[in-house]
Amino acid sequence: MIDSHAHYDDEQFDTDRDEILNKCVEAGVTHIVNAASDLESARKSIELSKNYAFIYAAVGVHPHEASGWKDDTYDTLRTLAGEKKVVAIGEIGLDYHYDFSPRDVQKNVFARQIDLARSLKMPIIVHDRESHKDILDIIKSEKAYETGGVLHCFSGSVEMAREVLNLGFKIGIGGSLTFKNAARPVEVVRFAPLDMILVETDCPYLSPEPLRGRRNWSGNIKYVIEKIAQIKEIDYKEVERATTENAVNLFGLNM
Ligand code: NI
Repeated sequence: MIDSHAHYDDEQFDTDRDEILNKCVEAGVTHIVNAASDLESARKSIELSKNYAFIYAAVGVHPHEASGWKDDTYDTLRTLAGEKKVVAIGEIGLDYHYDFSPRDVQKNVFARQIDLARSLKMPIIVHDRESHKDILDIIKSEKAYETGGVLHCFSGSVEMAREVLNLGFKIGIGGSLTFKNAARPVEVVRFAPLDMILVETDCPYLSPEPLRGRRNWSGNIKYVIEKIAQIKEIDYKEVERATTENAVNLFGLNM
């Protein structure tokens, strides 16, 4: 199984990172895509990809950090994206829940990074929190559909899912699917074809039930796969196989 979105550069793993990553392998995790939040985390993400065969890196500036974007950030990201195991630009997008950066800055930084991804022909990993309309508008106006990617931790409606899938994007499903109030994600998973779904943890955040509130790790992806299998009334193995294939294809991972 593949964890298509994790943050092992996070300081929450500083005390036992190696131990946890070794545990991931024992748990049957074959690949992890580590998403960056800023340039420093992008460099750490690349470092992890060099130290672990099963870790791949994404580089990008998260909307929370959009205010830190400078004139040379685009070129720095472009250089980092040239590293061997960098497979995506991410995570990038908009966050209107926290609004840590002004919205016009978030939008501009998102658009710049779509431009970078298109010029490199790399998929994007999109963060969308309470910003559905602007995310769709920018994906269209910046032609992000030409390079594709995934809307990670998808929180939109079935109607939005339909539009996103039509634009050629995948949907990332994580621990929030298992929460008790997860009516909308459940509908989205029921609706979305299996070949359009990626599974993810977003660890150390978003632990699934029954571990909610604790530090998350990639081994917990099995709870997400289990829940998808249950909703779609298919075999666990089928979900595991399909979501692995989807991530391998989107990010061009080695099998
Ligand atoms: Ni994330």
